[in-house]
Amino acid sequence: MESNGRTKVKELLNSTAYGSDVIVKGWVRTFRNDRFIAINDGSTINNIQAVVDFENTDASLLKRLTTGAAISVTGKLIESQGAGQKVEIQVKQLEILGDSDAEKFPLQPKKHSLEFLREIGHLRFRTNTFNAVFKVRHALAFAIHQFFNDRGFVYMHTPIITASDAEGAGEMFRVTSLDMANPPLSEDGKIDFKQDFFGRSTNLTVSGQLEGELAAMALGEIYTFGPTFRAENSNTTRHLAEFWMIEPEVAFNDLKDNAQLAESLLQFVIQYALENCADELEFLKNRLLEEEKSKPQDERSEMDLIAKLHLCSTSNFERLTYTEAIEILRNSTPNKKKKFKYLIENWGADLQSEHERYLVEKHFKKPVILTDYPKDIKSFYMRQNDDGKTVAAMDILFPGIGEIIGGSQREERLDLLEKRMHEMNIPADELYWYLDTRRFGTAPHAGFGLGFERLVLFVTGMTNIRDVIAFPRAPKTAEF
Ligand code: 4AD
Ligand code: MG
Repeated sequence: MESNGRTKVKELLNSTAYGSDVIVKGWVRTFRNDRFIAINDGSTINNIQAVVDFENTDASLLKRLTTGAAISVTGKLIESQGAGQKVEIQVKQLEILGDSDAEKFPLQPKKHSLEFLREIGHLRFRTNTFNAVFKVRHALAFAIHQFFNDRGFVYMHTPIITASDAEGAGEMFRVTSLDMANPPLSEDGKIDFKQDFFGRSTNLTVSGQLEGELAAMALGEIYTFGPTFRAENSNTTRHLAEFWMIEPEVAFNDLKDNAQLAESLLQFVIQYALENCADELEFLKNRLLEEEKSKPQDERSEMDLIAKLHLCSTSNFERLTYTEAIEILRNSTPNKKKKFKYLIENWGADLQSEHERYLVEKHFKKPVILTDYPKDIKSFYMRQNDDGKTVAAMDILFPGIGEIIGGSQREERLDLLEKRMHEMNIPADELYWYLDTRRFGTAPHAGFGLGFERLVLFVTGMTNIRDVIAFPRAPKTAEF
């Protein structure tokens, strides 16, 4: 029992305390035949049925039992006569806590499209789909902390406002307190950021990695788990402008250790969700089966959601180099038949998501770890391999998702790092603090970034990343 006397629906549905008096508080999902109220309180996607003695209940009260109304019910828990539920409540006392005008409330007791629900994002939590998604999201976040805590990693909170571009890709949102309609100018006519809040130009972080490396080079094993921001104009089902990233960084690890850590993490958290979100995953599995019915046979998943999660949490990920992957892609049927939008012709080409998904879904049929990418398509901090062409990078590709993790062994040799930064126009003087780790007691180390929403997307079987974060931020989208 909670302090306010109510019992959660989840607990009641598993209870056999027949005959006892209980209080339930929740929202009306449906009210049928002037008798049966389906109440949901969020504790589970399942509703509890409360049966009203309508002949002895005020008709004006019954009228207020509309979808969405908040109510408090006191009654006797009894074994249910109807099919579909074990228990129900015989209502003794009924109170409307908050009315919901049936004419105006946009959610009806029927299936709504995800597109429509996105437009009413402030209310979509009240659907079973979003209840399940956010329960799974929570479980995955918890499992991530547990995984790292069990292994002695330290959770670092890296800054959200920074003056650097960790990825060197220039996709940053500026942070300023200047009056942008009338900014102070310096002598050369440019905006004078010396007069800005921080006395310099600042932005929202694209990654906590650089600061994470500083900590790892003293604490040994750290991870971050926080929001990151990218002003890339990608209007896709896989990109957000604000997303959460988990970035472990480990001193003395090489690329192989890094891949092993990533594989263990992914398998642990998927297993955790399977064990702790059985109801939610069962619901999401059926939702996906239903959704795929409208698709042609060859576009449907070969496996259901739960089978797919089992497979990915138990089978070893395939490991291969970028160079090997290019060979497979070059000789693949879609490449020869010119079915890829971007044909693979030469070594050095950046892989598009169509290529990543071909490797994972068609060729290997399991998660893939691709390593040793051409240095020109990767970031400045990655360790340069002896061939002079590639870096010790790794991407992990997942079915239906494409890239879920990006990481690398870091360049720990000062001279090589400085040379690479110069070639790539990364301002070495501004990053003196980063280079100091290479000046004082440098050591091999490695890390990666796991896109949290891509993980949630994979585990829930949802198809649009905007449906696995409460309030998505994307180009032209910042409602709520
Ligand atoms: O590959 P990325 O850009 O790598 C980094 O940021 C490194 N600093 C990580 C590291 O080594 N510590 O991003 C890492 C992951 C991607 O694999 C992807 O899952 C996710 O972050 N990601 C996005 N997720 C949603 N929306 C976006 N716009 C994303 N960009 C990257
Ligand atoms: Mg990447």
